[in-house]
Amino acid sequence: MIVLSVVFVWCVCKVVFIELFGMLYFNMYTKIKEIKDQALFIFIKMMWIFGRKGASGFSISSTAEDVTNGIDGTDLTAIVTGATSGIGTETARVLAMHGVHVVMAVRNTENGRKVKETILNETPNAKLDVMELDLSSLASVRNFAAEFVSSGLPLNILINNAGVMAPPFTLSKDKIELQFATNHLGHFLLTQLLLETMKRTSHDQKKEGRIVNVSSEAHRFAYKGIYFDNLNDESSYNSIYAYGQSKLANILHANELTRRFKENGVNVTANALHPGSIATNLLRYHSLVDGVVDWVGKYFLKNIPQGAATTCYVALHPHVNGVSGKYFMDSNVAQPNSYAEDAELAKELWDISLTMVAP
Ligand SMILES: NC(=O)c1ccc[n+]([C@@H]2O[C@H](COP(=O)([O-])OP(=O)(O)OC[C@H]3O[C@@H](n4cnc5c(N)ncnc54)[C@H](OP(=O)(O)O)[C@@H]3O)[C@@H](O)[C@H]2O)c1
Repeated sequence: MIVLSVVFVWCVCKVVFIELFGMLYFNMYTKIKEIKDQALFIFIKMMWIFGRKGASGFSISSTAEDVTNGIDGTDLTAIVTGATSGIGTETARVLAMHGVHVVMAVRNTENGRKVKETILNETPNAKLDVMELDLSSLASVRNFAAEFVSSGLPLNILINNAGVMAPPFTLSKDKIELQFATNHLGHFLLTQLLLETMKRTSHDQKKEGRIVNVSSEAHRFAYKGIYFDNLNDESSYNSIYAYGQSKLANILHANELTRRFKENGVNVTANALHPGSIATNLLRYHSLVDGVVDWVGKYFLKNIPQGAATTCYVALHPHVNGVSGKYFMDSNVAQPNSYAEDAELAKELWDISLTMVAP
């Protein structure tokens, strides 16, 4: 902290000195901005470096490689949805680096193959498959699951990562609001269809299975709980609240899975997490905000390796053995809001989701 304070005071003094004494010959504005930016950059980076570690021994600045250091995943098979971009790509890369057989479940298989090539360049013996999955289409989810099950592969880890954020009101192919359809319902059906494979794998290998739902702190911005009666109603649609609602659903889904697994003695855990705030393609529907986030992101936000840390921690780390129904942030257990802990709401969401995915 002393070093941090000294560096910060030094930079501020430098700025003040320049401002007071007019030491710049030309382009004063640019110079001051440059120095202020440097000071800010150093200050924020020092905050990361000295970021407090939580009970897990990891912090906000830990990367996916940090939290999986020394872990052997060679006996494991994982599905990562949305592995063509951002957190999903980094998650697939780091799991594959540890020997996990990663099935990249992606809607654009050409992009999926490019990501696979990039990972293989770095880790030539990585075990990676690319399979088509459009989570906004229940038919596509069924096709994916059928193909995966018929491949005979085991399944230890399911990472429900793919997501869309705050698009203009859109209905999916199944006439369901796009964020609820993609972020929650597609993953709900996917999980249902893969559960038997996960149970069988955990039984055969005598090893716990893990379901990891990538949620968000935005679950706090949900309408009020889940808007069951207005899920597909354009007139009451608010893109941010609807995003929050779908992310709240991710936590409730993990909690209800946990309750059912415990009731039935299933050796599979289900947890949800907030990855942090990271400049990815998630803001693609808001180009102005996206530009600003890209610009200031390097100062205030996590980078992508840090953004994938909590997912990789929850998916692989032995500290998480037997832990289920929890919400994680910065690779530590965190506290979601009260709606996320409402067991009745979780059950209601489960029942309604089941009805909605019924063929
Ligand atoms: N970035 C953040 O600050 C932040 C914060 C909190 C939570 N999250 C959560 O983190 C997760 C990953 O987001 P990200 O930041 O990595 O965003 P991203 O870079 O936009 O990646 C999203 C991924 O989801 C895929 N996807 C979108 N719609 C899909 C669909 N219908 N079917 C299959 N795949 C689909 C995208 O595929 P394409 O490449 O084909 O578009 C992409 O691979 C999301 O669940 C998001 O809600 C992110």
